Amino acid sequence: MKEQTLWSGGRLDSEMDREMIQLNNSLWIDQRMAKEDVQGSLAWANAIFEAGVLSRSEYDSIISGLKQISEEFSNDSFQFKSSDEDIHTAVERRLTEIIGPAGGKIHTGRSRNDQVVTDFRLWIKNHISEMKSGIETLQNAFLDRAEQDMGVILPGYTHFQQAQPILLSHWWLSHFWALERDKQRLTEAQSHADISPLGCGALAGSTLPIDRFKLAKDLGFPEPAPNSLDAVSDRDFVCDFLYEMAMIAVHMSRCAEALILYSTTEFGFITLSDRYSTGSSLMPQKKNPDSLELIRGKCGSQIGLLQAMLSTLKGLPSAYDKDLQEDKVLFFQSWDNTLLLMKVLTGVIGTLHVNADRCRQAVDTQAFATDVADYLVKKGVPFREAHHIVGKVVKRAEAKHLKLTELSLADWKEISSLFDNDLFRIFSLESAVNARAVWGGTASEQVLKQLAYAKSKMNTI
Ligand code: ARG
Repeated sequence: MKEQTLWSGGRLDSEMDREMIQLNNSLWIDQRMAKEDVQGSLAWANAIFEAGVLSRSEYDSIISGLKQISEEFSNDSFQFKSSDEDIHTAVERRLTEIIGPAGGKIHTGRSRNDQVVTDFRLWIKNHISEMKSGIETLQNAFLDRAEQDMGVILPGYTHFQQAQPILLSHWWLSHFWALERDKQRLTEAQSHADISPLGCGALAGSTLPIDRFKLAKDLGFPEPAPNSLDAVSDRDFVCDFLYEMAMIAVHMSRCAEALILYSTTEFGFITLSDRYSTGSSLMPQKKNPDSLELIRGKCGSQIGLLQAMLSTLKGLPSAYDKDLQEDKVLFFQSWDNTLLLMKVLTGVIGTLHVNADRCRQAVDTQAFATDVADYLVKKGVPFREAHHIVGKVVKRAEAKHLKLTELSLADWKEISSLFDNDLFRIFSLESAVNARAVWGGTASEQVLKQLAYAKSKMNTI
């Protein structure tokens, strides 16, 4: 026998077309909000009881029915039916099965329009800590590396040309701070999600004397949304989250891109663990950094999910339109991607091997050029002029096919008489690194301070 849909026999005579049912069904995605749907319904039952809609015994049976449904979700025994269009209709259908026709009273004064977005906001409230702890786990991986790799020097790049030598720990920490901003932005996004739409009905509010302030408080929201039309159509918080999750992915993708390069034969700065690499079906010698490429690749989808949500919203007039059902599809996809990518990157970083010698040897001595300019500045030469002089030195070294450090003092002196024997003291990677001792710089002492500061940011949100 065919299951009854919510509408059949009422306003609509004929059953929906098969493909229409498929398109219309959102249960496959919104059953993730099952617990929140029950949570919202429990609070709603309370609100309409207080508004005089339910008798004491109706109220009691609705509450016990909802608690049973909650149990069924917890122990995975809830049976969905093919006629369940979404999680809201599934819960109401089951409630009526358990307690009889009084179950139909739960939807008095409520619409799925305010219900769905209440569930969604509750879901975020209930799950945000998973996202934050995923970020912190990844941040910890960067902190551990920074600690472990202290003292390793590698070339620092701008324009992807060698610029100045830096500490690898400084580089690891640069990724930590990007994630720290992500954590803060998530907190901000969370605050935008933290408002109660319940009691707004389909679009214009409820005719029942509902205390929406109390209802909001019962659900843990600081306040009820002040405009019913806006409340049922506002998906800004979804965009905020999609933006933030795209941003997290962008941060991971940038890190992945650098690590892919650093793992090539040409660079050889790092070696990835086999646990995060794959081989080639054709070339026996290959070890590919697929983990990092997949992170970089998925980042494109993450950006697309934000774009898709904004595009869904742009043509919608006020209040609820069914287009909005797409919100959860996009959001949960991005959410799951973000958590998975963070776990993989955490693993990659924790297991890779740093080839400290290769890092060090890769520093081109031209990278001392700024230090030479600073040397002249200390002797009173205006920086612009010092820059010019060192440029000439670099050109001369290149013409002679020599490294900067291989030029004789005579060569140096020919370009500027200010160069002296003490010049050669600056040709040490350690002194170049440690000379950048400003707060936030790459000098060892500063990186240690930075590390301590970074650690103080953990577990604070
Ligand atoms: N499944 C719907 C959604 O996810 C629930 C709201 C349906 N509202 C309606 N008026 N048809 O958006």
